[in-house]
Amino acid sequence: MDSLSRHEDYGSTPLHESHMVADPFEQFAAWLVEAEAFPIYEPNAFVLGTIDDDGKPTARTVLLKGLDDGFLFATNYLSRKGHALDGNNTVTAVFGWYAMHRQVIIEGEATKVSPEESTDYFATRPRGSQVAAWASEQSRPIASRDALEQQFEDADRRFAGETDVPRPPHWGGFRIVPTRIEFWKGRSNRMHDRIVYLRDGDRWAVERLQP
Ligand SMILES: Cc1cc2nc3c(=O)[nH]c(=O)nc-3n(C[C@H](O)[C@H](O)[C@H](O)COP(=O)(O)O)c2cc1C
Repeated sequence: MDSLSRHEDYGSTPLHESHMVADPFEQFAAWLVEAEAFPIYEPNAFVLGTIDDDGKPTARTVLLKGLDDGFLFATNYLSRKGHALDGNNTVTAVFGWYAMHRQVIIEGEATKVSPEESTDYFATRPRGSQVAAWASEQSRPIASRDALEQQFEDADRRFAGETDVPRPPHWGGFRIVPTRIEFWKGRSNRMHDRIVYLRDGDRWAVERLQP
């Protein structure tokens, strides 16, 4: 476990207010494109933090599937995260592009996208993923891997004669509408750059935080 005692230098490339665009969505898009080109493996993966009914924070990785005036991801609405979001739609999303010494933290509220939007996106998924959305009761216990495979086979058989697998009603997208977006760039001596966009009505206020 050499990593526990290693002290990486995160480099000298600065993140300066003057390098950043006024619209944080544009800034995020530029960083995502750079992460794709780097290339970061699964650059659209982020850790989504939610609050359970009992106030307990939980987190898991999901994939960004769209970027407009919010950050879109898709999941099972009856999953643990789905239930958490039903009770409290406040979320945090963390993109960790460590090989680039970059991190983006988004805070906001997640709301379900329209059924039509979910259906359109579901149609773009590979058939195996579509079948799995029917086969898996996400977040629920199951007796064995064999039982899970059986559920997949059953779902596969159910739609065998159909060209298109329909979207399950329990599966769809969420849009995170942000109130705060932080862009973090690692620097030498742990003197990192942190530039935060805070929603202020129709515009965004920008401030720098200490590392
Ligand atoms: C790289 C990666 C990408 C993932 N993408 C998704 C996703 O887009 N949607 C999803 O529901 N789960 C995704 N998962 C699985 C989740 O991390 C998680 O196991 C699942 O959603 C159940 O979470 P929950 O029980 O907290 O609701 C992904 C996992 C990894 C490691």
